[in-house]
Amino acid sequence: MEMACMHMKMRALALIAAGVAATSAWSADTDIQSPVVAGGSGGFALQRPEIYHAGWVDLNKNGVKDAYEDPAQPVETRVEDLLARLTRAERLGQLEQRPIRNGTDRKDAALIAAGGIGSYLGAAPEAGPRNRLQRLAVEESRLGIPLIFGFDTIHGFRTVFPIPLGLSCAWDSSLVERVHTVAAAESAAAGVDWVFAPMVDIARDPRWGRIAEGAGEDPWLGGQLAAAAVRGFQGTDFGQSGRVAACLKHYVGYGAAEGGRDYNTTEIGLPTLRNIYLPPFKAGVDAGAATLMSGFNCLNGVPASGNRFTLTEVLREQWGFQGFVVSDWNAVKELIDHGYAADRAQAAAFALTAGVDMEMVSNCYRTALPALLDAGKLPGSVLDTAVRRVLRVKITKGLFDQPYTKPAILDQAAATALAREAATRCCVLLKNNANTLPLKNAGTVALIGPMAANRHDLLGCWSGLGREEDAVTLQAGLAAALPGVTLRVVEGCKFEGDDASGLDAAVKVARQADVIVLALGEPASFSGENSFRSELGLTGVQQQLFDRISATGKPVVTVLFSGRPLALPVVLEKSAAVLMAWHPGIQGGPGVADVLTGSVAPSGRLTASFPRSVGQVPVYYNYRATGRPLDDYMDGTRDPLLPFGFGLTYTQFKYGATRLSGDTVKNGVITVATTVANVGKQTGTEVVQLYLHDLACSFGARPVRELKGFQRVTLKPGESQEISFTLTTHDLGCWSAEGKWVIEPGRFEAVIAPDAASGAMVGFTLEP
Ligand code: NOJ
Repeated sequence: MEMACMHMKMRALALIAAGVAATSAWSADTDIQSPVVAGGSGGFALQRPEIYHAGWVDLNKNGVKDAYEDPAQPVETRVEDLLARLTRAERLGQLEQRPIRNGTDRKDAALIAAGGIGSYLGAAPEAGPRNRLQRLAVEESRLGIPLIFGFDTIHGFRTVFPIPLGLSCAWDSSLVERVHTVAAAESAAAGVDWVFAPMVDIARDPRWGRIAEGAGEDPWLGGQLAAAAVRGFQGTDFGQSGRVAACLKHYVGYGAAEGGRDYNTTEIGLPTLRNIYLPPFKAGVDAGAATLMSGFNCLNGVPASGNRFTLTEVLREQWGFQGFVVSDWNAVKELIDHGYAADRAQAAAFALTAGVDMEMVSNCYRTALPALLDAGKLPGSVLDTAVRRVLRVKITKGLFDQPYTKPAILDQAAATALAREAATRCCVLLKNNANTLPLKNAGTVALIGPMAANRHDLLGCWSGLGREEDAVTLQAGLAAALPGVTLRVVEGCKFEGDDASGLDAAVKVARQADVIVLALGEPASFSGENSFRSELGLTGVQQQLFDRISATGKPVVTVLFSGRPLALPVVLEKSAAVLMAWHPGIQGGPGVADVLTGSVAPSGRLTASFPRSVGQVPVYYNYRATGRPLDDYMDGTRDPLLPFGFGLTYTQFKYGATRLSGDTVKNGVITVATTVANVGKQTGTEVVQLYLHDLACSFGARPVRELKGFQRVTLKPGESQEISFTLTTHDLGCWSAEGKWVIEPGRFEAVIAPDAASGAMVGFTLEP
């Protein structure tokens, strides 16, 4: 009875604070509603006002503004005040994250009320279910500590953007930031406080399906885009409305899974860990990311989710990270499966002391740690440290002051326009013989292949709460972009299976066309988590389809949709033009059509090398030199089919020689310059890339090339531009195995080039 009264009181306080008249419509039993994210031309509409607290929330219902409830108090004061009030069970509760499932609010009600759960993962299109759970925590539990809700907003929430690997090919931090700003606003409106993104794992192996979720193979570019994604999600303050806390994942080395098999063991030497796999995480931490997720992989014999070296020495002691680390799903319990921990208690103790603060799904912390704490086998201070970190993020997120989802009106038209822009920007033109593209006055166009009229696979591997019906197909995009053209569409075959019965009909349509657009690739389900491949060709009978269509002798424009680099030397050789479109999101059809028809010139560049065959994998641009001449395979060349950085457009650029400001670094700088000219017939954008080579480094041999900068330059036909980059002494350094940034005098080389395989290096000296 007393409880119920307090609930009523609290509700009334909230209503008054929000300036809402307390009427009988708002009884204590009324569900707290959320803004509903509505589709349709009217945009996202707010359907009902939210109960919104404008002042403080009396979380422990004692009628007093305690320090932890007081928004005017410093975060650390609030954290310490609250921590001092918590029982051990409540402390452990803050470290437990569960998935939202049907009926969770009923099943978990008692545990939530006991303060036994700190967080949920999962989301609904609107915030109702989330707010119901939140109400249980805030109103039923002793101290009213709000839950934090996390969700996999990876490449969009309702508006699905290109997969991250595709988006990275735009080489454009501001685009990445804008995309994730929209994703944050849509997520936040549906009650998501925290997104499990960006995924910043370096991936050198396209067999690994999760290469789709990251920014490719380069640590420097990966770092730039990681920081941009964090800024997009969090803004300058993730406590502001419309922003969400970010989560850098999967810390660390997950992308080096042996054989490309997901979740697999990783062996990464320290120089490579420091210089290749860690830098994007460091960049994300420096950009202010609120959280990290520890990986599933076993790293050099120690699971990433129980790895004190990476989680505490590197992340906390060397980088000064203040937020919290959540394990990946069940990863704490999986310390047992890795053969690292003997039982749940040991798994919990290893993970917590290593630096995993919150446990996702497996509940070893809450269930197994009490006995260890009682027995004095684990100091209480370890537990408190983790709880502090979680509370710090929750308070900074503003959850204590505003536990429920804030109303928002979202601009759906602007989000859709951005999705179209992003879809054009992720396209990489891989080949364009005799100006086959752009398609102009094309007569009859045959659009053939499993992606021709396919909505589903445009969405990619993590489509959030995106909907197939929002996706616009290539067929629709081309029909709108080529109004005077006869467009004949036939599927030819499916992505999977061996049914070749549609090939004859496809060939017939092809024969009657002036140009053929072949929309091929792999289905969305072939990439992402637990979707690894041992072959990198076209799936199903698509290669047969390609061969038959190609044999007609008509010009073939192949548009590739996939979540990874594919190994397609024959397709590249025999097509007149090839456009890599990745899985481009809901506006994939119009976006790809914009590029094919030339209303937008392609400007994407590859962020992962394309192998010629599976046997070459891993093949990446920033390898180390060997002591012997670079021989080829007995049965083929060693070079990738297409290098990192590669991409064409509808004009041609000519690079002058790379020039230096001198033979030595002077006053801490050296300028690297060249002239880039547009020697073609159309305006175009070039991504001008700067690579460095450190010829001798006693801290660990450096790669033959490392990306150090790039500039996007748009030039009209006949125009040329001086491009220069300033390298500082600092830029010539690298990470030592111990984690120090070291700069060693000696010989270096630099080159400005259109991709990682072009250009002649010029040498200079850094004097002692
Ligand atoms: C497992 C995945 O590895 C991770 O990326 C994701 O964020 C979590 N599940 C939560 O869904």
